[in-house]
Amino acid sequence: MAPEEVRTLFLFESLDADQLTWLAEQGRVERRDAGGLVYAEGDPAECFFVLLDGTVRLCRTVHGDQVEINRTAQRGVYGGATQAYLGDDRLYRNSMWALTDAEFFVLPAEKFAHAVRSWFPMAMHLLEGMFVGMRDTQTLVGERERLLALGSLSAGLTHELNNPASAAVRATSSLQERIAGMRHKLAMIADGRIDGRRLHGLVALQEEAVERVAKARPLSPMETSDAEDELTDWLDDQGLTAGWELAPILVSGGLDIDWLDRVRAELSAEELEPAVRWLTYTVETELLMREIADAATRISNLVGAAKQYSQLDRAPYQVVDVHELLDATLVMFRVKSAGVRVVKEYDRSLPSIPAYAAELNQVWSNLIDNALGAIGDAGTLTVRTGRLDDQLIVEIADTGPGIPEEIRPRIFEPFFTTKPVGEGTGLGLDISYRIVVNKHHGDVRVSSVPGNTVFRVLLPISPEEPPAG
Ligand SMILES: Nc1ncnc2c1ncn2[C@@H]1O[C@H](COP(=O)(O)OP(=O)(O)O)[C@@H](O)[C@H]1O
Ligand SMILES: [Mg+2]
Repeated sequence: MAPEEVRTLFLFESLDADQLTWLAEQGRVERRDAGGLVYAEGDPAECFFVLLDGTVRLCRTVHGDQVEINRTAQRGVYGGATQAYLGDDRLYRNSMWALTDAEFFVLPAEKFAHAVRSWFPMAMHLLEGMFVGMRDTQTLVGERERLLALGSLSAGLTHELNNPASAAVRATSSLQERIAGMRHKLAMIADGRIDGRRLHGLVALQEEAVERVAKARPLSPMETSDAEDELTDWLDDQGLTAGWELAPILVSGGLDIDWLDRVRAELSAEELEPAVRWLTYTVETELLMREIADAATRISNLVGAAKQYSQLDRAPYQVVDVHELLDATLVMFRVKSAGVRVVKEYDRSLPSIPAYAAELNQVWSNLIDNALGAIGDAGTLTVRTGRLDDQLIVEIADTGPGIPEEIRPRIFEPFFTTKPVGEGTGLGLDISYRIVVNKHHGDVRVSSVPGNTVFRVLLPISPEEPPAG
């Protein structure tokens, strides 16, 4: 290539005649056919490429995906061993493909590096500092985003687990006391020399009490207090001490005056008090055991949700029901979404789809996190599913202030954030977009007016080929 022609490339326009001649001698022109590889990421970075003619695209592997980072037909754009002058650019950091027949001015990396260093010593120093600084920042920020997300979710989960766990501990220790009390009461009943037949009747009543507890219908506060008053009066009339202590327990166990009348009919007057107290213990232990079972169920559901969320022991690519993923993710956000109304509008007829489940959970997390951030203290988060032809739709909608028109085109850019330093990293939507679009060949769309912002994720229901892993 002639020195005058080299000068027409914007990179070289300010060089003097000697420099241009040197470049023209060192460089060569290379051609690629449409679809051809210009250079491949990870190969030794041996050449610096300047586009003379044609259209190229630059791709980079991000978390295992091939992501297109640029596509251009601009004469003079460059790629390849662009940082050879820094001395550490041993491998190509991206791949370049020719989309049409294309022509390049190619310089061997070492020659290129030598020229840049000796011609622009001052610029070199500046670039070195900037490049190294930027690389560190990027790694740090990416790492921080992941830690922030994990930290806030595990804090939420810990809090969630703590409630049922301490409820179970409390109920267990009350249960121990009640059982000790029951043994004691049983001894008193035996001392009263109840005959065998009566004891039989009492045990039958006890069985019935247990059954009633299981079937007890939840009462309104009003009904509860009426029923308690009635029972207290009955117990007082029978001469029992501290009837007001027993009544609430009997009522929550679903026992009423009719039942107590039957108890009385089975027993003598002296036997009534110890028998009623003993039956009350029965009801109480039943209630406590139910509480423990509930707490344990809640704990096991939470652990199940955490497992579903993290997908730790599952294959990365598998057929999943998105509703299970959404539910697990919502559980992780339960603490953060306290005060916010969460509405699920699921289309349960949707089929399961093959997907990278853990990564989709990250997408829901990022969108839900943004929605909750926008909602603030009060509002509604809606999670909706549906179908559009051969695509499955998941929508995360919020009633926050919306996304201002001016920033709409930028929200998917990495590091774009409107949140205060330390709160937002600006990576949430970027990561989500890459997972949905590059990894699942789906799409993310957004529509926003004040009071209604909707992020809509589209996923192919039956991908023709398994997406790139
Ligand atoms: N639901 C939403 N309502 C209003 N603005 C939003 C919403 N989701 C995203 N944004 C805007 O997009 C920006 C980028 O979001 P994101 O990539 O998740 O980064 P970050 O949340 O760290 O700021 C946010 O800072 C915010 O300005
Ligand atoms: Mg975010």
